[in-house]
Amino acid sequence: MLSYGGDWNPEQWPEEVWREDVALMREAGVTLVSVGVFSWSWLEPRPGVFTFDWLDRALDLLHGAGVRANLATPTASPPPWFSREHPDALPVTADGVRLTHGSRDTYCVAAPAYRHAAARIADALAHRYADHPALAMWHVHNEYGTGCHCDHAAQAFRRWLRRRYHDDLAALNEAWGTAFWSQRYASWEEIAPPRATQYLPNPHQLLDFRRYLSDELLAACCEQRDLLRAAAPAVPVTTNFAVADWVPVDHRRWAEELDLVAIDAYPQGAGPEAEEQTAFLADLARHWAGGGSWLLMEQAPAVLHQDRVPVATAPGRLARLSLSHVARGSRGAMFFQWRASAAGAEQYHAAMVPHAGPDTRVFREVCALGASLPRLAEVGGPVRAAAAVAWHAPSGWALQHPHLPSPAPDYGAAVRRCHAALWRAGVTCDFADLAAGADALAGYRLLLVPAHYLADEAVVRSVRDYVAAGGSLVVWYFSGVADAHGRVRLGGYPGAFREVLGVRVTEFAPLPPGETVALTGGGTARVWRERVTLAGAEAVTWYADGLLAGLPAVTRHRFGDGEAWYVSCDLDDASYEALLARVTSAAGVAPEAPAAPSGVEVVRRCGAAADWLFVLNHTGHAATVPVPGGGTELWHGAAVTDAVTVPAGEAAVVRTAPDAGAGARSTSSDRGL
Ligand code: GLA
Repeated sequence: MLSYGGDWNPEQWPEEVWREDVALMREAGVTLVSVGVFSWSWLEPRPGVFTFDWLDRALDLLHGAGVRANLATPTASPPPWFSREHPDALPVTADGVRLTHGSRDTYCVAAPAYRHAAARIADALAHRYADHPALAMWHVHNEYGTGCHCDHAAQAFRRWLRRRYHDDLAALNEAWGTAFWSQRYASWEEIAPPRATQYLPNPHQLLDFRRYLSDELLAACCEQRDLLRAAAPAVPVTTNFAVADWVPVDHRRWAEELDLVAIDAYPQGAGPEAEEQTAFLADLARHWAGGGSWLLMEQAPAVLHQDRVPVATAPGRLARLSLSHVARGSRGAMFFQWRASAAGAEQYHAAMVPHAGPDTRVFREVCALGASLPRLAEVGGPVRAAAAVAWHAPSGWALQHPHLPSPAPDYGAAVRRCHAALWRAGVTCDFADLAAGADALAGYRLLLVPAHYLADEAVVRSVRDYVAAGGSLVVWYFSGVADAHGRVRLGGYPGAFREVLGVRVTEFAPLPPGETVALTGGGTARVWRERVTLAGAEAVTWYADGLLAGLPAVTRHRFGDGEAWYVSCDLDDASYEALLARVTSAAGVAPEAPAAPSGVEVVRRCGAAADWLFVLNHTGHAATVPVPGGGTELWHGAAVTDAVTVPAGEAAVVRTAPDAGAGARSTSSDRGL
């Protein structure tokens, strides 16, 4: 059964509203709600004094209505008493400003008082509700990602560094390049978090601090997980991942510690960019889940402005984007939030029950989606993808350093551009971890590597072995330039991938804003350019004018049984898409439904005895997509002979015979639930 529901905050409402809520949940087909996410001051109004009676009643009410609880630990929002008693646990920015109570997430995760208080409330909840029949899963904290630069953080950072460098200060000095600007450390005590400083900070220190934060936050999460598991060993534990540049969390690594990957997805904008972003976030979630299923924990039931205030959306979007997640492996569609808050910082955030109440278009769409989702209960199995895009959170962190060659790629934008180009071409892709080894990559015919700035020896080996064994690879500039510490790999760029690409780059030659240079074949390069020397590769496209006229811009290298392409410049959109069309076709990677009209997304999930074809019509007119062999359309319940027609803005899900085509993934790591 797919989970359906949202964050329910009974503490914001009188109890007669709870009863109405639960009746409306039944009407809407809600199966699961996230409870208590920000309820710490209601559960523990004074230190060590717990008031569980209201939560008992709320959970009993849910249970009576057959709705299950995704019960949260409320540790993302410590109560005022905590901040007053422990001012040293309030977070300090890099500029040295100590933040005060008044919002949420005001704590230093390394502060002992915070960790102690968080463990105490998590343990109390675990013991109180371990056997409650409504309990379906634990939701630890909310969107981990808060950083701090205080003295507690400094101590924890030093402990982390001592572990990372095996107590070898010389190794840290070497990795951080402290010979530069007289930064050599003679004792661990001299090391601090990267606080505001006079001029450019040390990039290796910044990178290690992001890694430390990810690990420290994870340790805090695992402390709670262990308490919850000890009380309720059979109940899965998750936390909701936020995906944004400010989040110092290596989700791939975190996923190994959780029973279920859950994400919050807030695409920006009302147009096709939101549909692409939805696919991007869902594909990332599946990557973190090891190719298995995961859960969409939060989305907004309306478009959000930059400041997350709702604006009207086209009818059908709510269901269509929800199905985009299910198509890509989500076990359900959850929202933030159930009922729109009357007061508080997010009082204008969209909700399943808007301020105007249930007699609204949004609630009617919520009910329609809830009525239809059970028809997809049979859907399962891996998503078919023959191409993969590399994902590497630490490369994104390293590329945030302010003094890289300018303008260094924006990691998120570079990866999204690659994913979006495939999405527009109708090609479903996975994300891949290059360090996972050539065996993990072997199922893909095509591997795309944008802005993978850092590469250690494991990455070098697995990429080389992947191509040698017949894979097709495309690497974009500024990948493999540095080692895992961010130290430049010497002898020519892109050090890590030079051998497999058969090129040697001797100079960066970025272009000033607005300037372009012509390429042979009619395209243009902008922003970035490099002086490429061939070392086994052949040139496919050359710079046609400017400083590098006559030199290679895009190259191809036959290596072992495969081939490796290098793109040394920022291609204009048409050239970028033309290049991807060329490499996908050369690699034998086809769109899932080559005859699908533009704007119609088709994704295949492969079960043991059947496949399910998700057809999402993002256009404003009906669209027909061939379904060879026919099948049954589950969403509306109709037989399909050889094609399915989907009304404007709607979606269809066709059960069809298994297709043995390329790219079917056979692994799945479903756990829990
Ligand atoms: C995040 C948080 C929620 C809420 C929403 C608003 O996902 O988890 O508490 O703030 O954003 O969009």
